[in-house]
Amino acid sequence: MKENNAPYLDPSVPLRDRVEDLLFRMTDRELVGQLVQYAGPGVSFLRGTGKAAGDEVDLGDNVPHYRDLNPRTFIAAIENGEIGSFLSVYDEGEADALQSIAARSRLGIPLLIGVDAIHGHGMYRPGATVFPTPLGLAATFDPDQAEIVARITAREMRATGAHWTFSPNVDVVLDPRWGRTGETFGEDPYLVGEFGRAMVRGYAGDGGEESVLSCAKHFVGGGDPDNGINFAPLDASERTLEETFYPPYRAVIEEGCPTVMAAHNDVNGIPCHAHPGLLTDLLKGTWKFEGFVVSDWTDIFRLHTVHRIAESIPAACVQSVLAGMDMHMHGPGFFEPVLAAVETGVIPRERLTDAVRRILLQKFRLGLFDRDDAGSRLEADRRGGVGCAAHRDAALEAAAASIVLLKNEGNLLPVSRDVGTVLVAGPNAANLSILGDWSVPQEDAVSLLDAVRAKLGDERVISVPTNGVRSITDEQIDETVRIAKTVDVAILAIGDCSLRFDRDNRSCGENADRARLDLIGRQLELVRAVHATGVRVVVVLINGRPIAEPWIAEHIPAIIEAWEGGSQGGRAIAEVLFGDRNPGGRLPVTVPRSVGHIRQHYRVKPASHYRTYVDDPAAPLYEFGYGLSYTRFQYADLRVAPILGPDEDLRVVFRLTNVGDRDGEEVALLFVSDVIAEVTLPEKTLAGFKRLTLKAGQTREVEMTIARDRLAYLDRALRRRVEPGEFRLSIGVPEVLAANFRVS
Ligand code: GLC
Repeated sequence: MKENNAPYLDPSVPLRDRVEDLLFRMTDRELVGQLVQYAGPGVSFLRGTGKAAGDEVDLGDNVPHYRDLNPRTFIAAIENGEIGSFLSVYDEGEADALQSIAARSRLGIPLLIGVDAIHGHGMYRPGATVFPTPLGLAATFDPDQAEIVARITAREMRATGAHWTFSPNVDVVLDPRWGRTGETFGEDPYLVGEFGRAMVRGYAGDGGEESVLSCAKHFVGGGDPDNGINFAPLDASERTLEETFYPPYRAVIEEGCPTVMAAHNDVNGIPCHAHPGLLTDLLKGTWKFEGFVVSDWTDIFRLHTVHRIAESIPAACVQSVLAGMDMHMHGPGFFEPVLAAVETGVIPRERLTDAVRRILLQKFRLGLFDRDDAGSRLEADRRGGVGCAAHRDAALEAAAASIVLLKNEGNLLPVSRDVGTVLVAGPNAANLSILGDWSVPQEDAVSLLDAVRAKLGDERVISVPTNGVRSITDEQIDETVRIAKTVDVAILAIGDCSLRFDRDNRSCGENADRARLDLIGRQLELVRAVHATGVRVVVVLINGRPIAEPWIAEHIPAIIEAWEGGSQGGRAIAEVLFGDRNPGGRLPVTVPRSVGHIRQHYRVKPASHYRTYVDDPAAPLYEFGYGLSYTRFQYADLRVAPILGPDEDLRVVFRLTNVGDRDGEEVALLFVSDVIAEVTLPEKTLAGFKRLTLKAGQTREVEMTIARDRLAYLDRALRRRVEPGEFRLSIGVPEVLAANFRVS
């Protein structure tokens, strides 16, 4: 049993000494056990059994995820210290039950419990606060929003026994056919990195009882699958890896992100889960990453079953650990081959102790050896608890800030409160699509229909119950058209369904990749039919990836991009529709005109459109950074130093005026380009951004500093450097101000 006076149990002993003391005491089986993660027994909850684990893990006659595993074996593995972590643990009852079993083990090493709390803890926790999905958060261009979201998420996680979230996803997405686009912060490496940093800060908090571990994923390059399908290979040059896919990981590791999850895909022929160049040489060597690497869901086994670079699953396990993998997600089949490989010397003992040291360091840092989760729960309850009003208010703020106004012809928006009757229809008007992926049904979710009714009163709001995005019927289209002829304004909520529990309608989300980018199903037919009645139409997009619909862009007078705004998303949209809020979001991704335009992101090089297509304009439907407001902003008087001295950052000053009659928020976007360089470079690169609030008529003197490193590029030898010469600074999308300056 535990020696209570052992140094590893003494909080006054320095952390690293506690780790070394514990390592010294561990048997080989206990060491390998720390590399093993299982899925929680309560995972049956998602499988519709509705059975959330009680106080004692009642496994009955099977462990939901491991049909062949005898429940006694499962319990014994925990008792013997041969399981070190769990994921998908649904509630504090299950977490406490699992921890109480681990506490009976010889050394009493606590379990690390991980969850997919991607935009709130709503994947497991009914009633948890569900925030906008990351793509919507990025559209705020306000990392502080993301930090608040992560902070609240961490609090709600610790209140339920979870210590580690598999977030932030810092994949840079270049192919929006990929269903997980909505789970990312978009296409720009700098923006993705800044939001990743903010999430890492938010999750960590002050390192106390409300702190959780974050996890940068998926390392690396899942956002540009070669056919748009999740898992597909990444074929990328070293230059592309260094310029596009690595920077967000460097950023979050610099911010202290303690864990990294390997990507499903291979990079240039080597699967990430068995890539020593990535996991060991680059991550742990060059970048000096002190945390640990966790596999993605059974991806170690897929080295054999999918990638076919390992003769067998045992061989795959050994290959992955040797490459630098530290923890296996999840279940049986890993422990024995790795133990055998350690005992025969195939896996050097230093590799094993390195992995365990990295994992234990995080468990000690979280305080898991020094306190149970009770304190975290009390703290969370003191602050209002899971899903409390204050958390919902924060979710509303984030959702409102994420909304992008794409079109407002004739100032149709905001709709006057004196409007007569309003139709609110379309497949996403009254369902839970607004929650996005990685969430379960949430009673407190507010649909757009609910929110508009709350604003105008039931008597003035007519709705047409419509099936999901992939199952609209003739009758529903006919009925919507019939009603549209009788109302003053028709609000059509369309887009995607990323919900895991609505498989029939799923068009987006993890493993919901598409070969097209237009509206799925008969949604466009519905919009065109309503438009043909002559009624004023407002289209509200609720979606997890850019939607390429040129006809809507051209014919519909008012278009709002609302992303998947979370449990308060419906309220946020209604507040924008009726003018309680002025939209200020900007696009964190380019919206192509069609799937045929793909790889269309804003960091194109001049030669990319030196020519054009014969059958379609080459320009995107909407540019990265685009977004309108109910007011207008005027930029003037741009000042930058004509010469940037050695080691100087670029100080940018300009005047910004709100020339409209409404208060509003403007995102100032600063781009730079090196006029002549030794390699071809994007026409412009995001170098700075700031979301600013201005009252109607207000003028602000705005000062922004662009770190000198933002001017750097990789030369022909892939060395990052700022090259003396002429640069161009441009502000705004579309551009509103520009100036050249020289770097000495
Ligand atoms: C999935 C996802 C990963 C997630 C993990 C655990 O395969 O790729 O993002 O965190 O499994 O659910």
